[in-house]
Amino acid sequence: AMGPPAVSTGHLPPPGVVAELVREAHGRYGAVTEGRVADYIPALAKADPAWFGICVAGVNGQAFEVGEAEHAFSIQSISKPFVFALVCQALGGGRARAAIGVNATGLPFNSVMAIELNGERTVNPMVNAGAIATTSLAPGADAQERWRFILDGLSRFAGRTLEMDEEVYASEAATNQRNQGIARLLHGYGRMYCDPDEATDIYTRQCAVRVTARDLAVMGATLADGGVNPMTGERVLDADRCRRVLAVMATAGLYEQSGDWLYEVGLPGKSGVAGGIVAIAPGKGGLGVFSPPLDAAGNSVRGQLVTRFLSERLGLNLF
Ligand code: DON
Repeated sequence: AMGPPAVSTGHLPPPGVVAELVREAHGRYGAVTEGRVADYIPALAKADPAWFGICVAGVNGQAFEVGEAEHAFSIQSISKPFVFALVCQALGGGRARAAIGVNATGLPFNSVMAIELNGERTVNPMVNAGAIATTSLAPGADAQERWRFILDGLSRFAGRTLEMDEEVYASEAATNQRNQGIARLLHGYGRMYCDPDEATDIYTRQCAVRVTARDLAVMGATLADGGVNPMTGERVLDADRCRRVLAVMATAGLYEQSGDWLYEVGLPGKSGVAGGIVAIAPGKGGLGVFSPPLDAAGNSVRGQLVTRFLSERLGLNLF
C-alpha cells in the first residue's frame, strides 16, 4: 500500500512532487523500530536510533531535504564505490578490474571465504577485501599522499571539503583485526598493491569520513550525471568509468542482499554501517538516507524502506 508506482521517464517529476514525496517518505517510515545500531565499532554504538534524514539531489542541481539531512555520520562502506571510481579514473577501469575483481560474492561484507572461493583471489570493490585492495591502488608515493588522494577525491564527489571523524577512526583502528587479517591474506595471494597494514589504515580512515544525507545525495547525483558534480559543475569521473562503477554497485552494493535490493528498488546503491545509504537514478539524480538501525546484513532498515518507496513513487526503477 505505497500508492501507485510511477513509470520511469527520462527526468525526475516536477519539484513540488519530489518535495512532497520526500516528506511523505519521512512521515511514513519515521515510526519504524526494527533494526539495531551497529556496535562492532564501539563509537558507532552511541548513535541515536531516532536520527532520520533524507535528501534527493537532481542532476539539475536541485536538492530536496527532510529531517536530519545535515547530520554528519561516518560514510563507512559507502566510501567503497567512490574510492573505486577514483582508482578507476587514475589507473583505468581495465587495470582496476583485473586487480580487484567485479563479481558478486553472495557472502557477507567481511567474508574471508569469498577470497578463498575465487581462483583468481579477486573479489569486488564493494566488500571489505576488494575495497582494501582498491585503497591499496590509490596513487601516491607514501601513505600520506594516498590518503590525500582519497579524501580530496571524496570531497570532489560531495562538492565540499570533507573531514575525518577522529573518534570513529580511533575506535575502528583499535578493533579492526579482522580487516587486518583480510589485507594480509590478500597480500599473501599477491592481491595487495601497497603494504597491507598501510592499506587497512587508509581504508579505516576513508570509512570514518564524515558525510550527511545531503552529501550522499550529491555524491550519488554525480554518478547519476555521468561523473559531473551537478552542484559544482566539476567533472570528477569520466562517463565510461562512471557507468562501470554503477554496474558494480548494482551487482554487489548491498552484499548478499544485492539481488533482493535490485529486485525491489531497481537502482545501483550502497549502504554503510553508520546507517547511510545512497541510491543512484542514472540521468536523474541521487538519493541519500541516514538512519542508524540496521538489518542483519548491515543495511539501514529505514534507508531501504525509503529508497524502495521513492524509487516506486518517483519512477526511478531502471527496469
Ligand atoms: O570495514 C568495516 O567493517 C567498516 N569500516 C565498514 C563496513 C560497512 O559499512 C558495512 N556496511 N554496511
